[in-house]
Order: sequence, then C-alpha cells, then structure tokens
Amino acid sequence: MSTSVAQALLDKPIVNPHLAAPLKLGSLELKNRVVMASLTRNRATAGAANGDMLKYYVQRASTGLILSEGTLVTPQGIEWPEAPGIYDARTTGTDGKSSSASIGWKSNVDAVHKAGGLIFAQLWHLGRVAHPLLQGSVPAPGPSAVKAEGGKFRHLVGEPGYVTPHAIADPSQYALLYRKAAEHAKAAGFDGVELHGANGYLVNQFIDGVSNVRTDKYGGSPENRARFALEAIDHLIDVFGAGRVGIKLSPSGGYNTMRGGAADLPVYTHLVKELEKRGIAYIQVVRFLPDFSAGGEAVDVGVLRALVSKTKFFANGGFTAAEAEEWVKDGKADAIVFGRSVLNTPDFALRAVRGVEPNKDTKWGELYVVKDGDRSIGYSDYPFWGCAECNKVGQSGEGCPHN
Ligand code: PHB
Repeated sequence: MSTSVAQALLDKPIVNPHLAAPLKLGSLELKNRVVMASLTRNRATAGAANGDMLKYYVQRASTGLILSEGTLVTPQGIEWPEAPGIYDARTTGTDGKSSSASIGWKSNVDAVHKAGGLIFAQLWHLGRVAHPLLQGSVPAPGPSAVKAEGGKFRHLVGEPGYVTPHAIADPSQYALLYRKAAEHAKAAGFDGVELHGANGYLVNQFIDGVSNVRTDKYGGSPENRARFALEAIDHLIDVFGAGRVGIKLSPSGGYNTMRGGAADLPVYTHLVKELEKRGIAYIQVVRFLPDFSAGGEAVDVGVLRALVSKTKFFANGGFTAAEAEEWVKDGKADAIVFGRSVLNTPDFALRAVRGVEPNKDTKWGELYVVKDGDRSIGYSDYPFWGCAECNKVGQSGEGCPHN
C-alpha cells in the first residue's frame, strides 16, 4: 500500500478546519463534516447489494458519514432495474447465504465499519414515478391519481413517460413499509436510516400540493400534508431511536416535476418543527440547483435551518470544499453532503479538508451502466490522490494500494 502517496496527502496541512472537525450526531461521532450523498448507481444483483458495491463504499469510508444509495422498501417502488432493496433476508444479507458472495447489505455495512466508516440506509419508495414494467402487475401508487409530467425512464424498453398512479387508500400501510425496512436495516447493522423525503418520490409526493390533492387527513393543510412523512419518521424512531434517524427534503422542488417553492413552504416549516421536537439526528436539505431543480422555485434553505437546534442541519447541492467550509464556519449547516465530488473522488473527504482538488474526470456514461462487462469502470476505478495506476485497478478502502 501506498504509504508514501497516502501519507503525503495526510501530511498536508488542514486548511478547512470547520469541515475537518468531528460532529456529534446522536450517539455517533462523525470524524468530519463531509457526508457522502445517496447516489443511484444501478449496480445491485436482482435487488441485492453485492461485492462491487462493497468495494465502492469501502473506498469512500473516509467521509464522516456515508448515505447509501436509495434503497427500496419494497420491490414495488422501483424505477431502476438494479437499485438495491432492503425488504427481505436476501436483500438485507441475513439469510445466512450471503457472506461469500457479499450479497445483501450486511456484508457491505460490516466492511464499511471495518474501514472506519459510518453508514445510514436511505429508505426509498418511488411512488408515482415507479416504472410500470418493473413491478409486475402492481400499479404505481401515489397520494392522488395525478401523474408526473414528462418522463425520465432511461434504461428500459418502452416509451419514457410516467403512469397515472392509483391513489393510495390507506397511507398508514405505506408508512409501515418504511418501518419494516428500518427493521431490516437494523439487522444489517446500519448505523441509522434516512427517510427519502425529497426529489419527487413517495414522501415528497405527499408533501407537494400538486401531487397530493387528497381531501382526507393526508391532504390539504400543512399538518395533513406532513402527516405521511411524520408517520414514517415515527416508525423509524421506534426502530432506531431518534438519534439515528435523518430525513432528506428538497423544498425547491423541480426534479420529478415537484412544485416546491413558496406554495409548499408552510408544509416544510411545520414538518421541520415537528422533526426538531422529536430530536431526530439531522435534516438534509437540497438547495436549488439550476439543472436539478428546474421547474421548481428556489427556497432559501436558511429558513429551515433557523428552525432546528437539537437536530443537525445538512446542506446538499453542488458545494465545493471552500464553500462548504464557509457554510459550516458560519453556522449555515452542521455538515455538507457531496454527490458529484465523492462519486469521482473516493478520498474526497481527505482532500477537501486539505484544500486538495478532487479528480477532474467523471465517467458520466457509466453512471448507471456497466461498460463492456467490467463492473468497476466508472464505479470503483476512480483514482486516489496522486496515483495514475488507480485508474486501472480497484482499491482497498485504506487508500491507494500502488506505490
Ligand atoms: C435518480 O435515480 O435519478 C435519483 C434517485 C434519487 C434521488 C435523485 C435522483 O434522490
């Protein structure tokens, strides 16, 4: 292993001390404020996490906290053919058959822990944007029979487009799916769970006034539109304890044709106040990004930040290390969630706190797609600092094995 290269990086002075500082999160301590974002990579095996994923996550164990890619609470809620799930013993990795093939989350989580990392499972249901071809004969569910506009199904046969969902009769049954998934996540050894309440998926569909036109206790007022999220959160708290539960929110809307903006802000403020009362570990808020949030309306994330003190505040959205340092220094966030930088730079956390640039190249063509049968390309072959060889060979989580 690369003592010289890795050590040369570690020997550089810390120039972003606020980003480098540990963070107490419930009973956990994050070793720095660089959090790895949930990133869809579409590389599971029939819904189960696998050894390729293990390698990829272990490489990124120097981040203060890894948020797993969106992980399905039920096979019904699927859009990507190879998104992982956490809804049975096989996908959890507790069926006793998994360890040699690293199938299921447990072996992945164990490996991240061994490499000194912490990992939360992001619990995901696609709701109305689930792909109809992937869920057998079960129709896509949503709060109301209102379909998303446009279409973005990208790697499946058939026309891109969305289906009109059936309106869920009893939302509490869907909230229970998150509870069951949290039980599996606990069995897999995850350090905590994040409710995916952002980006136009099921929880967000209940919050947003365009996708939710219900007239029962789950629709209408801010209290009613926040109800589904809070029911799910309360299940997660029951399973993990409040200090190990987070939520992701995207109040600016846009992605998956969410409205967001001023019209939905009262739902977010009610929801965040309730989350603060419960003392959950953190809320992660995606700020307005011109591409990702297009069609939405910018909300100043500071409005929500001001509502929490016990609960930590994570900001997400195209941050550089320098900007992240400023935000943490100024108290605008307790930690920053990085997607693109951690995607192409496995040792990004170690670099960011030292002001060392991330890798330049991102293999966007392999973001969701395995190239030429080589599952590492554009996935676990991004170079560690200072090593061109890393382009060719996979890594251990300790750092670059070359040199
Ligand atoms: C996606 O698969 O495009 C995706 C998934 C989860 C997100 C955002 C985007 O939160």
